[in-house]
Amino acid sequence: MHAFSAFAALSALAVATFTNAAPASNGRERLYARSYATGNGIDARFEFWGRTDGTGTFVKIEVLKGLFKDSPHYQGPYGYHVHTNPVGEERNCTKALAHLDPLAVTESLICDPAFPQYCQEGDLSGKHGKFNGTTSGAIETFGYSDDYLRFFPEDFSILGRSIVIHAANKTRLACGDIISTIDGTASGSFKPTHKPSKFVKHYPTVAPTNPPQVVTPFVGETFPSDDTLHNLPFPLANPALSLQEALNVELTEKTQTVWVNGSKTQAKLPVEKKSSAKPPFRGFTDKSWTWYA
Ligand SMILES: *[C@@H]1O[C@H](CO)[C@@H](O)[C@H](O)[C@H]1NC(C)=O
Ligand SMILES: *[C@@H]1O[C@H](CO)[C@@H](O)[C@H](O)[C@H]1NC(C)=O
Ligand SMILES: *[C@@H]1O[C@H](CO)[C@@H](O)[C@H](O)[C@H]1NC(C)=O
Ligand SMILES: *[C@@H]1O[C@H](CO)[C@@H](O)[C@H](O)[C@H]1NC(C)=O
Repeated sequence: MHAFSAFAALSALAVATFTNAAPASNGRERLYARSYATGNGIDARFEFWGRTDGTGTFVKIEVLKGLFKDSPHYQGPYGYHVHTNPVGEERNCTKALAHLDPLAVTESLICDPAFPQYCQEGDLSGKHGKFNGTTSGAIETFGYSDDYLRFFPEDFSILGRSIVIHAANKTRLACGDIISTIDGTASGSFKPTHKPSKFVKHYPTVAPTNPPQVVTPFVGETFPSDDTLHNLPFPLANPALSLQEALNVELTEKTQTVWVNGSKTQAKLPVEKKSSAKPPFRGFTDKSWTWYA
């Protein structure tokens, strides 16, 4: 009963088809990566199917055990994110550093699923809902499509990164590297190689510092008024382009006029630019792989 209601609540938040199988390829090439997140008795499996044609990245999640509704040890709801750095074979979740956030949305701008272009790319639970946990600790397979989750270019890529699952108090409970045959982090049979990603090579060495205040400008379906946006204590991040708007993008910085605390000022902010570069790798046809811890 609990397992079912958690599943139903999560499915209401998802934006695309739910399926136990991989999404239909319709002849299109797909890119594939996965992450096996463990720690504190949690066993969570994440799969990612990207496309080379501009449609969203499909995320499939199954939790086999460990995410309890009422655990004496830790409490949900459980957030989960793509973090910038791999955690390695020893799964030291601290090594993951911060969320994948190429546009510097920061932790201070609370993600609203109605405006995913203003969410951190890696904030999967912000965009698609946290795990509530169940009485059995398992969560049935579910999935969604995310138009902002990219396999390329490097700054935006989920390749070579990790997944971290957090308790309600932000403690890092479980983590695992995102591995793929595309960048050599998985072998042909999808065993982790524990080698550095051949695609993502530039990593932050420290987590960025966040602005001092947390703001929730987006509430519900209505875009905030200029007045609200102009009075934020820091400049609003530039919105991300969806995969449909631009299959490939470049990350640049732009000095622009922004509003902060009700006054206009100049600020240098990261911004995406459409790129005509081709996808850096080819997709492949489907296969089924065993899970290796
Ligand atoms: C989690 O539980 C809360 C409180 O019962 C509920 O409001 C929310 O919709 C649930 N979320 C999900 C994703 O199941
Ligand atoms: C968060 O919860 C964990 C697990 O219950 C606990 O070990 C930790 O001390 C808590 N941290 C904070 C900051 O409350
Ligand atoms: C985990 O990584 C952090 C940061 O690199 C380090 O400070 C800490 O000692 C590591 N913990 C363990 C148990 O190795
Ligand atoms: C805006 O105001 C807040 C609170 O008054 C302050 O913390 C913040 O530093 C201000 N931002 C700037 C850029 O001055």
